[in-house]
Amino acid sequence: MIIYSRNRRLRTTPALRALVQETVLTTSDLVMPLFVMEGTQTEIAISSMPGILRRTMDLTVKECKELFSLGVKGVNLYMKVSENLKDNLGTESWNRNGLMQNTIKAIKDAVPGMVVMPDVALDPYSIYGHDGIISNGKIDNDATNDALVKMSVSHAEAGADIIAPSDMMDGRVAAIRTGLEEGGFTDVGILSYAAKYASSFYGPFRNALDSAPVDNVEIPKDKKTYQMDFHNSREAMDEVMKDIAEGADIIMIKPGMPYLDIVSKVREAIDLPIAVYNVSGEYAMLKAAAQNGWLDNDKAIIESLTCIKRAGADMIFTYAAKEAAILLNG
Ligand code: PBG
Repeated sequence: MIIYSRNRRLRTTPALRALVQETVLTTSDLVMPLFVMEGTQTEIAISSMPGILRRTMDLTVKECKELFSLGVKGVNLYMKVSENLKDNLGTESWNRNGLMQNTIKAIKDAVPGMVVMPDVALDPYSIYGHDGIISNGKIDNDATNDALVKMSVSHAEAGADIIAPSDMMDGRVAAIRTGLEEGGFTDVGILSYAAKYASSFYGPFRNALDSAPVDNVEIPKDKKTYQMDFHNSREAMDEVMKDIAEGADIIMIKPGMPYLDIVSKVREAIDLPIAVYNVSGEYAMLKAAAQNGWLDNDKAIIESLTCIKRAGADMIFTYAAKEAAILLNG
């Protein structure tokens, strides 16, 4: 039998496969999210995210040095806020001397080359565990934006390179951009979580920060009035286009693996860099299967991150960033 076109011809040897490889994952594609807490010389394991620690600021700085030497060029910061500092307005979030602001300074002092991207959202600071301020039992979009601007400017003052708002309020990219321009922070970029879905895959993260919405009949129990409905795809494009028009520099799509159709669709439509968040639940699933011997941990990590890049990501926020960097460095 004569088969003129045989796809297997180019799969014959490792060298040939390497020559025709379309997507190559590198350490420069990776951003590591870090959980920070008050204190010194302490780290706590997060049980729902095997291998992930919550660290005090000093140990976080040490970790950043290690990450940078491994080739990981970006970190995304989250604070565990003490209960006594939480309120409805998230006042602590724009404290110039707060844990976030001090951590940004400490990292930039110790590892100036690291791209520091603090999370901007009220949930870790909110007594209600919501990304917005609550008034009359509802999330008050515009009041929240005012708080997010103050928070963003305080991060810029501390030395942040890129502000990463993950709250999904309407109009916040324009508000933050205006605040940064007026404050003279013209070079501080905005990575906007443009298409962030209300997802059950954030569960382990909320354990890590103790930031889940509290159970109360007066306030919404979930984030569905601001995060997107997972049944929708066209709406993601609308969100993305609005954030670009408002001045976003990088567009985030979140979660990652179950949402790669969205990534690929947005990739076709825009030329700005795209970030994809390989979220806590995706990480926890992989780790749980690997711990049971059901998956090869290292292979599954490299495959899943490469596939996220193949779908169109320029950078991937992933809890496996350090592990992946070690694997990629061979
Ligand atoms: C909150 C925030 C969340 C994540 C990042 N920022 C949780 C949420 O929206 O409830 C999730 C990250 C993850 O699951 O890895 N603004």
